[in-house]
Amino acid sequence: MPQPLLAIRELSKRFGGVHALEGVALDVAEGQTAGLIGPNGAGKTTLFNCVTGVLRPDQGAIRFGREGGEELVGLAPHQVAQRGIARTFQNIRLFAGMTALENVVVGTYLRTHAGLLSAALRLPEARREETWARERAMGLLARVGLADCAGQPASTLPFGWQRRLEIARALASDPSLLLLDEPAAGLNATEKQELLLLLRQLKTQGLAMLLIEHDMQVVMGVCQRVVVLDYGRVIAQGAPGEVQRDPRVIEAYLGAPAAA
Ligand SMILES: Nc1ncnc2c1ncn2[C@@H]1O[C@H](COP(=O)(O)OP(=O)(O)O)[C@@H](O)[C@H]1O
Ligand SMILES: [Mg+2]
Repeated sequence: MPQPLLAIRELSKRFGGVHALEGVALDVAEGQTAGLIGPNGAGKTTLFNCVTGVLRPDQGAIRFGREGGEELVGLAPHQVAQRGIARTFQNIRLFAGMTALENVVVGTYLRTHAGLLSAALRLPEARREETWARERAMGLLARVGLADCAGQPASTLPFGWQRRLEIARALASDPSLLLLDEPAAGLNATEKQELLLLLRQLKTQGLAMLLIEHDMQVVMGVCQRVVVLDYGRVIAQGAPGEVQRDPRVIEAYLGAPAAA
């Protein structure tokens, strides 16, 4: 296997008595789409929070970048963003009162500003001075199929479109790795199909992705590899089809087929 773009080793994080992550190892190669699945409470979002600098792990290494990469543990969220990692959230975090376009413009500033809010506060300045940011944002809206909604308040968009808008905002920081936290949650069948097409397109364009997702159709439809977490530990990993048949995985999902 080529050197990984993201290499996580021995990652542990506790919340009081809860071992949210325990000795987790996980790689994402350049341009690869990897899935991260597991029951609720398995530690998936905590892993994203550790990678993005929102949480500091108790133990472990998170290396990111070419040729062995650079250690991310200890960096602030905006420093992680600067190095080329963007994310979407399990609960959509858009600025409801802003237009779709403005939400994406904010994303362009995530690399230089310490968080979503401070990036948003820069917006008036951006409006005046930096038409390039708006042009870039328009291009990204088109890329996720939302060019026609640029001027609409984010809150008025259908839920599935809001999810795609959040992806456009994440792309605005020009990441080489995109972390997606349950992007298909709450989508109807059509929206799910549209999402899957978008993810495949991003994959074709060479973007590496780590995808947390319960919907097996989406996972199977785009992931080259899948890692399964249960109670903070990796219990299985491999090709999507293999993992889905793994008895440990089926058991982790309480005896139901992994697609449940
Ligand atoms: N900020 C936090 N404070 C306390 N406990 C947390 C916090 N975040 C997550 N947890 C706990 O850590 C475990 C893993 O949570 P999470 O990473 O959100 O799981 P998943 O995303 O796989 O559903 C759960 O038991 C959850 O309650
Ligand atoms: Mg979660």
